Amino acid sequence: MPDQAIQDATSVDETLARMKKKLSEVVPDFELEAKAQIAFEINRLKRERNAIILGHNYMEPALFHSVPDFVGDSLGLARISAETDADIIIFCGVKFMAETAKILNPSKTVLLPAKEAGCSLAASMDGDDVRKLKAEFPGAPVVTYVNCYADVKAETDICCTSSNASKVAQHLFDEGHETIIFLPDEYLTQNVAADVGAEVVYPKLLGGPGKDAIKPGQKSLVTWNGTCEVHEQFTPRDIEAAREQFPDVVVLAHPECKREVVEKADFAGSTSAIINYVRDVDAPRYMILTECSMGDNIIAENPHREVIRMCSIRCPHMNQITLEDTLDALIHTRYEIELPQEMIERGRASLDRMLEIH
Ligand code: 13P
Ligand code: SF4
Repeated sequence: MPDQAIQDATSVDETLARMKKKLSEVVPDFELEAKAQIAFEINRLKRERNAIILGHNYMEPALFHSVPDFVGDSLGLARISAETDADIIIFCGVKFMAETAKILNPSKTVLLPAKEAGCSLAASMDGDDVRKLKAEFPGAPVVTYVNCYADVKAETDICCTSSNASKVAQHLFDEGHETIIFLPDEYLTQNVAADVGAEVVYPKLLGGPGKDAIKPGQKSLVTWNGTCEVHEQFTPRDIEAAREQFPDVVVLAHPECKREVVEKADFAGSTSAIINYVRDVDAPRYMILTECSMGDNIIAENPHREVIRMCSIRCPHMNQITLEDTLDALIHTRYEIELPQEMIERGRASLDRMLEIH
């Protein structure tokens, strides 16, 4: 949750005192002393410019707790972007999220504080790849994970996020489709296939069997070879090792992890679902298999919880977003997301359908 008391502070000293109160478990005081001035200035300027700041759950704790008006997972932040009447949306997250905000609310100025904050999943395919898959599987609806760029969304029938991926697939199977093109995350596809009782099919485009692998009456998800460079690093051995050291640990994994990791975990869900699980379900300790900053953010909210995380595994893209760059984004109105009108309109349809389902 964003800390309103920090945002309402009327001086740098008050900002620092409130940041220390919230974050003393996870950020050393000397670091907060350096950051309070910037946080105070961001909060002053965003009010002056009628801007809102959206912070993804992976933001580092000093930023996450001091400047965003809203924090959340991809789905939650997409909903807020669609509804806001602020003039400027500053997206403290990665480029595909900022593009989603622009598509959903195109009259707003949408800013991404670090120009190069990308995503390995989004980089794994482009619109041309989707067109080739549609030619290989004519008539199959295309579902894409929001972790893709606007040219891929423009070729998509319905988007999904980690919190509704299985529901979106199930919705299309219930409508009578037997084959769905489900892009671009190979492991998310495997995890969704297990949830909805479907087979994963590798397209000929990637050297797989394509349509030859589809039997009549079989529910099929055609996948792609995109992976998250962060979540693909977690292994079943990490979970075994944690259970050997802490037999009572509850393991929570993001569905971008490999199937064999999710199978060994106690729970899999979106970043917000993991946060809510730690808040709501009592356990002696939790291990979270996702970007490590999120563990700090959970501990700041729930100091009585013990959270194990593997901080050698980080998202280099999310970590580009800093308080310093967020202030610069506000001062210089940068880096603005600009998309062709046609791409906005086509991408909008795929996001609207997702938001209608849930
Ligand atoms: P969530 O939608 O679960 O927040 O995931 C976004 C993401 O990029 C995870 O790596
Ligand atoms: Fe992309 Fe993975 Fe980083 Fe999420 S954690 S933004 S999926 S690279």
